Amino acid sequence: MQNIKQSAEQELKTAKSPKDLEAVKIKYLGRPEGLLTQILRNLKNLSEKDKKEIGPMANEIKNWLILSIDGASKKIGDRKLGAPRFFDPTIPGEKQYLGHLHPHTRIAGKAAEIFLSMGFNVVDGDEAVNDYYNFESLNIPANHPARDMMDTFYLGDEKGKKFLDEKGKAWLLRTHTSAMQVKTMEQQKPPIKTCVIGKCFRHEATDASHGYILYQIEGFIVDENISLANLIFILKEFLNKLFNQQVNIRLRPSYFPFTEPSYEVDFSCLNCGGHGPVRPNPPAGGEGGCPVCRNSGWVELLGCGMIHPKVLEYAGYPKGKYTGFAFGFGFDRLVMLKHKIEDIRHFHSQDLRFIRQF
Ligand code: PHE
Repeated sequence: MQNIKQSAEQELKTAKSPKDLEAVKIKYLGRPEGLLTQILRNLKNLSEKDKKEIGPMANEIKNWLILSIDGASKKIGDRKLGAPRFFDPTIPGEKQYLGHLHPHTRIAGKAAEIFLSMGFNVVDGDEAVNDYYNFESLNIPANHPARDMMDTFYLGDEKGKKFLDEKGKAWLLRTHTSAMQVKTMEQQKPPIKTCVIGKCFRHEATDASHGYILYQIEGFIVDENISLANLIFILKEFLNKLFNQQVNIRLRPSYFPFTEPSYEVDFSCLNCGGHGPVRPNPPAGGEGGCPVCRNSGWVELLGCGMIHPKVLEYAGYPKGKYTGFAFGFGFDRLVMLKHKIEDIRHFHSQDLRFIRQF
């Protein structure tokens, strides 16, 4: 055995090329004639005592030899690196793709830029929050019907036991960026001008226009004498800058537990210029119609309102001293409109053919 090892060692030392190494490999490890291969194969014909002695030794030498051949082949390879390499200009090249920002990231970046320019503080906020910040402090107590629309993912162990914070509130993935409102108000004194941009989560069945991950942009201002006029101005300013053109908006009365009064805001359709159909009574989305606003001339954008006094109370502010507004919207739809993407699920499909188009 020792002779075999010594001679192999010697041969490896003098090997100069991959071909030499291959010869060593075949001599010792080749099948069926290799020296070590034969010894290992014939073990079964030996006595128990010899088996116990020779078996492990042969295996050890075999493993050592495999590693040594590998090491020697790397060394020979390294030495060859200095030599000029053959370059065949006729072989088709490997296409190198340049990465780029995801369409979401681009809109988020643009929005952040606009809000920063208007003096807002822009944050991602927490994606995992407790029940208090996501619901209770926003005037959505347990059993409130608004929770139905915002069922989410609770953090817990594998047996389904929910993780609770030190006050016994459940940890969950935020359903909306509004979860940063009271937390921010607790940490800062008015004037507050904050914009939250990031991922939110909802426990939803997915289809072409609903995902369980959505991206939201939220803005809120709290100070003395903040009014609805301030909200309308900021929203218009934001949309004009985002779309690089004058955009009309309209407010429709709505309801959110954490704003009062509450509104939905639509903006004039940029696809048809806000005039809806180009011929009388076309089918929605059909020829001559506007597929973006479905001929209404308006595109639904966001929810907003004046921050409910109860929310300001939860934040610990003196009653009646401050007012504020808040607005929030998912921007998946904006990205989809802009790039004519028909299915929200593409965003997370990880299919490079999709993402490389933008
Ligand atoms: N958080 C609300 C939603 O996700 C939107 C909203 C934000 C409404 C701020 C009013 C004020 O639907």
